[in-house]
Amino acid sequence: MTVQYDPENREKVVTKLPAALRRELKVRAAQLGVDIKDAVTEGIHAWRSQTEPLPAVDTAGAEPFATYLPAGLYATFKADCTARGVAYNQGMAQSIRLWLDAHPAPSRVPRPTGVRRVIFGNQKGGVGKTSTSAGVAQALAEMGYRTCLIDFDPQGHLTKQLGYDLFDIEAPSLAKHMLGETKGDLRDLLVPIEDANFGGRLFMLPACRDAFLLDAKLATSRHVRVKETALEKALAPLEQEFDFIIVDCPPSLGYTMDTALYYCRTREGEEPGTSGICIPVLAEDSSADAYDMLDNQIQDLIDDLGIVINSIGFVVNMYDSRKGYIATSSLNSWKEIGDPPVIAVIPELKEQREAVRLKQPLLSYAPNGEQSEAMRTIARRVAA
Ligand SMILES: Nc1ncnc2c1ncn2[C@@H]1O[C@H](COP(=O)(O)OP(=O)(O)O)[C@@H](O)[C@H]1O
Ligand SMILES: [Mg+2]
Repeated sequence: MTVQYDPENREKVVTKLPAALRRELKVRAAQLGVDIKDAVTEGIHAWRSQTEPLPAVDTAGAEPFATYLPAGLYATFKADCTARGVAYNQGMAQSIRLWLDAHPAPSRVPRPTGVRRVIFGNQKGGVGKTSTSAGVAQALAEMGYRTCLIDFDPQGHLTKQLGYDLFDIEAPSLAKHMLGETKGDLRDLLVPIEDANFGGRLFMLPACRDAFLLDAKLATSRHVRVKETALEKALAPLEQEFDFIIVDCPPSLGYTMDTALYYCRTREGEEPGTSGICIPVLAEDSSADAYDMLDNQIQDLIDDLGIVINSIGFVVNMYDSRKGYIATSSLNSWKEIGDPPVIAVIPELKEQREAVRLKQPLLSYAPNGEQSEAMRTIARRVAA
């Protein structure tokens, strides 16, 4: 008799999985847009319908892994394991292996609407623009998207954190392309960010020491509209090559920021909500004041140019509820804004700072950590 399980009624189950298998499951589920608990459920059904014994999965160094199964399936599965003489953790690992083998990674995720442009902006420094843009770009690459990270902050933190040097002041650069001061192909300036899970899909455009001059030069440019369109024109050659262009914005509200805001607008013919701005913030009062200023600037651009700029959401970063009322009430105020929504709350975590110290991509340094999971959550939201 087949038992019908109610997908809404689930119970938490815990097993132990080797880290590599757990990661493979998370990445594959993200690539295919499948919920992990549904993948595990399918795997268990497939395992139960097998008639031949399955090869053992190496479970050395297994760590706890929790998921939610339809109520009742856990008990049935456990009884099956006992009947087949297979340890429960081994049975789970085999089930997940079955699901993975039946659902291979797509070689590349299809791109529905052309290049998607997402900027991480907030003129307040130290809120997580650089770490979030880098982490989300890594997660997008893991998911199968060709992704380009643009270091658009003159300080070049992103460039340095990913182990590269800033371009010399005289060298070709993004700013020079924006100002028409150099010929050549912008694509030649890209550097790879490598990790087996990024699959050769992640690149960065490093910062240059000339970027400090960009704002003043844009201000005095005599070309019409260059103050808004310069970034879009410079990045145009990249758009054929990438599914996502992710911009780490400077901590300022000058013309440089205007060009980034203009770049992430909803273009004519583009499906609403596919590009836009993500706003990392802290759960404290000064962050709210900073957001008011940013919001005013966004509204001014929208009104002056008659464009649509989609705010994807707030990322409330370095959240520490132990800070008491200030933190909790401030988080609530972000949530109460409602539009844009809060799309992630990231605790104060050590992995981020450790990865920076070692100049490693976060998702390579701590692929199973909570911070990397947060980046994948935001990436799924951005790619939805
Ligand atoms: N969730 C987090 N927990 C702990 N440290 C963090 C977290 N997010 C960012 N950081 C650290 O805080 C500092 C500021 O973050 P960063 O991303 O550089 O902000 P911004 O780009 O807005 O200036 C960096 O040292 C970064 O490593
Ligand atoms: Mg930064």
